[in-house]
Amino acid sequence: MGKITIAIDGYSSTGKSTIAKRLASTLDYIYVDTGAMYRAVTLFALEEGIINDKGKVDEATLIDKLSDIHLKFVPNTETGRSEMFLNDKNVEREIRAMRVSGFVSKVAAIKEVREKLVKIQQEMGKNKGIVMDGRDIGTVVFPDAELKLFMTASPEKRAARRYKELLEKGEEVTYAEVLKNVEERDRIDSTRSISPLTRAKDAIEFDNSDMGLEEQFERVHDYSQRVI
Ligand code: C5P
Repeated sequence: MGKITIAIDGYSSTGKSTIAKRLASTLDYIYVDTGAMYRAVTLFALEEGIINDKGKVDEATLIDKLSDIHLKFVPNTETGRSEMFLNDKNVEREIRAMRVSGFVSKVAAIKEVREKLVKIQQEMGKNKGIVMDGRDIGTVVFPDAELKLFMTASPEKRAARRYKELLEKGEEVTYAEVLKNVEERDRIDSTRSISPLTRAKDAIEFDNSDMGLEEQFERVHDYSQRVI
């Protein structure tokens, strides 16, 4: 078989992007982090004052301004990794902050936001040879993907990983806040009416609570070799 489409979905902070990036680089495929796109739209909403002090998203205004949002992935010349640009500004660091994590699931539940981003994602993957991670890749974006993975891990393990990452980036945050955010995002992502986070029937479920990175990668790589 030639190049295929690989969809990696799952809960927050399951390490999807780490595995997806490595797999894409090993296979010489494109990697797309769709969470970064929802995060960039959320950052735009925060910067434009579309999310008020009480955390309410003014949906009508955001929908109205969607055409002002231009997203681009640009490879960093030093690391080779793709970074998210929002209206020509590098926002890779800002979109990972807790300020954005706190609102992104609300923004991602808006139908028009999803329609805009899904269209861009489908365009990016139209020639296959892509590893895309997110919440609805195997169910909505690429329902015909040749390989679908659904990653899970306990909320505590996921929060611990995320907490460590945030501390390393110098963010002042407590483990309890991170755990609360991870659980809250899971709840909103799984119960929203449009494209809720759910395992595609033909996805391989993968619980990595007690698995090291090497073992995870070997398994996922092995799955890909069976299909390619
Ligand atoms: O993957 P990450 O945790 O960065 O995603 C941030 C948020 O973006 C998720 O919690 C979810 O609300 C939203 N998302 C989504 N659909 C995707 C990718 C992310 O709704 N395909």
